[in-house]
Amino acid sequence: MSDPLTKARTYEAGRESQISPAQRPGFHLSPRVGWMNDPNGFSWYGGQYHLFYQYNPYDTVWGPMHWGHAVSRDLLHWQFLPAALAPDTPPDQDGCFSGSAAALPDGRHLLLYTGVRRKAGTDQFFQTQCLAVGDGVNYEKYSGNPVLDQTVLPQGACPYDFRDPKLWQKADGTFRCVAGARLDGGSGSILRFRSRDGFHWEPDGILEENRLGYGCMWECPDYFSLDGKQVLLVSIVGAQDVPVDGVELPPGNHVLCLMGHEGPDGRFRQESLQAVDCGLDFYASQTLLSPDGRRILVGWMQSWSALDHRSPQPLPWFGQITLPRELSLREGRLIQVPIRELDALRGPAQIADTLRVEGEQLLEAVQGSMLDLTLEAAPGETEPLYESLSLAFTWGETDCVRITFSPAPSTLRLERSGSGSHAWTHTRTCRVENRGGRVKLRAILDRYSLELFVNDGQQVLSCVLYPPQAFQRMRLDVRGSAAVRVESYPLLP
Ligand code: FRU
Repeated sequence: MSDPLTKARTYEAGRESQISPAQRPGFHLSPRVGWMNDPNGFSWYGGQYHLFYQYNPYDTVWGPMHWGHAVSRDLLHWQFLPAALAPDTPPDQDGCFSGSAAALPDGRHLLLYTGVRRKAGTDQFFQTQCLAVGDGVNYEKYSGNPVLDQTVLPQGACPYDFRDPKLWQKADGTFRCVAGARLDGGSGSILRFRSRDGFHWEPDGILEENRLGYGCMWECPDYFSLDGKQVLLVSIVGAQDVPVDGVELPPGNHVLCLMGHEGPDGRFRQESLQAVDCGLDFYASQTLLSPDGRRILVGWMQSWSALDHRSPQPLPWFGQITLPRELSLREGRLIQVPIRELDALRGPAQIADTLRVEGEQLLEAVQGSMLDLTLEAAPGETEPLYESLSLAFTWGETDCVRITFSPAPSTLRLERSGSGSHAWTHTRTCRVENRGGRVKLRAILDRYSLELFVNDGQQVLSCVLYPPQAFQRMRLDVRGSAAVRVESYPLLP
């Protein structure tokens, strides 16, 4: 084992015990120590789920990128394994960036990732695609690295923006991958590659080009079939107030879901488009196909454009992976719901009641900071349409996070200014389907985050929270009058 990997493994094993379980989310993956960004190598291998992540063990800020590693059987209880990759070979001497994993026919686990190497005397970094092969715990870098370098790029493409390969195996045993690249002219694109054995790769054309429509560079692509369509996920850098779904996405980083089909020329034909998450903290998503055939998505529950700007971080770790979501398509839209495994964490219902709410009401029965709460609102039968409905999770007298539904414009607003977060932004508004004042919200809370699933997964809004004390009460506030059914379960990981 190389010195950098030995050092990282020794360091994380020694420091991990200094983080008490109560200082972490209960069922979301956080880094073993230090900093985490993108989920990597999300795969089913050797009878369990593997989730790697962009990892700087030594600090709670981004730094030399390693791959952290955890395994789980239910995607909720995670066990840390030793760091899998460290920057320790010439093509990845300055970082092991994002990538993916697949099982090889001979039983080994294959990791395909971006190796980063500084161009001498400059601030630019060559990005090439590299392999490591292992047994689910220990991985060895492939002697033929890099397996894809700038020579495979289209003419004029930038060798410093070529990254994040996502690979998969086809039914005929051959492999395919997609990666992000910046073409001549500066616009992002998704390139395709193919391989007969996972080791020897060749270009297979361009899947899709951004043409400077959504951001500039496109990173962390994923590409798969879902309910009869082809789905392309891309993480966009530097978006400028682009309209998606009739809503202006604020400047910054977002994940877009492009739905369509593949033309005979291998090019993607887009039919519809949507933001994967309308909240504040979501980026760099990756999916896998579970053994029972579900397409499951995770993302980094953070966005570069909504990072906490206070240093040092309030907690001894930084970064979380979202609750895994099951994906499907309905009427040209991406539908996302929490993985069904979550139901097993529910304790006895705290409340399962329909209330008539006018003005403010504290729901005494709802307590705790790990919750699975569903709220369904409808206008009172003989009353005018209510003006707004808010639900807030509070600590002390402060609203940690507040969600407000306004039925007339049919918008949902997320606000977390009392959450203890020192991020640059605290609010986000999105449009939801107009159902005449009816709305269904499922909130999943896990100490340091809220994920809100709207109308059975038509939209999701995620955000991180750093409350100075555990939030533990829920307050409803209706301007006007509404019938509100609330069903809340403590989550007991
Ligand atoms: C996305 C990203 C990737 C890159 C990684 C580096 O968040 O910028 O494109 O591989 O992070 O940590």
